[in-house]
Amino acid sequence: MTGLFITLEGPEGAGKSTNREYLAQRLREHSLDVVLTREPGGTPLAERIRELLLAPADEPMNSDTELLLVFAARAQHLAQVIRPALARGAVVLCDRFTDATYAYQGGGRGLPTPRIEQLESFVQGEMRPDLTLIFDLPVEIGLSRAAARGRLDRFEQEGLEFFEAVRSAYLNRAQQDRQRYRVVDAGQSLAAVQQSLDRLLPEVLERALG
Ligand SMILES: Nc1ncnc2c1ncn2[C@@H]1O[C@H](COP(=O)(O)OP(=O)(O)OP(=O)(O)O)[C@@H](O)[C@H]1O
Ligand SMILES: [Mg+2]
Repeated sequence: MTGLFITLEGPEGAGKSTNREYLAQRLREHSLDVVLTREPGGTPLAERIRELLLAPADEPMNSDTELLLVFAARAQHLAQVIRPALARGAVVLCDRFTDATYAYQGGGRGLPTPRIEQLESFVQGEMRPDLTLIFDLPVEIGLSRAAARGRLDRFEQEGLEFFEAVRSAYLNRAQQDRQRYRVVDAGQSLAAVQQSLDRLLPEVLERALG
């Protein structure tokens, strides 16, 4: 038995967490076993790695260190949460996954894609999400939503150029595989975003129940 692995991607303030809850509710109405999780994090140890990644610090973090920490957390999360949940047939809704690594450490930090691909194969083997929703919106809107929440983390302190690169990297990936990726216009009202998700729901349900 194998479940369905759905990832939600997009920059800060795009609405990933808000809409993950919404999708979970819709899916649970159909008696599906839904597991909500996030990256970096998702287990106590991986959440400790998350803290290292997000905390602003005086010592600049080397980009390779950042990349390795992201994948270290992912290895733990896959072993403890994602693989067991999929093995019992659950739908896993994960807030960020490896596409975020391509977008932030690849696009944002400028690390070469082949290096990320290497680690992806090492940590994940062949496993990839079944479906990836990319919440796309103008950089300024996302940042202003995130800023409204208060103190900025180490990534949120980056400038517009960084986030433009993140956005482009996400959109490039979406263009390369239209089967796996769906781009959601996250700059609309929340009601309109949720209508877009409702339109995706029959396909998701078919794959989850099928
Ligand atoms: N479509 C929308 N229109 C207006 N506000 C929104 C919309 N979607 C989400 N928000 C609000 O924007 C803020 C950020 O949303 P949310 O936390 O879901 O984003 P996120 O993608 O999870 O961000 P992060 O990556 O920083 O965790 C929240 O206050 C949320 O209520
Ligand atoms: Mg969130």
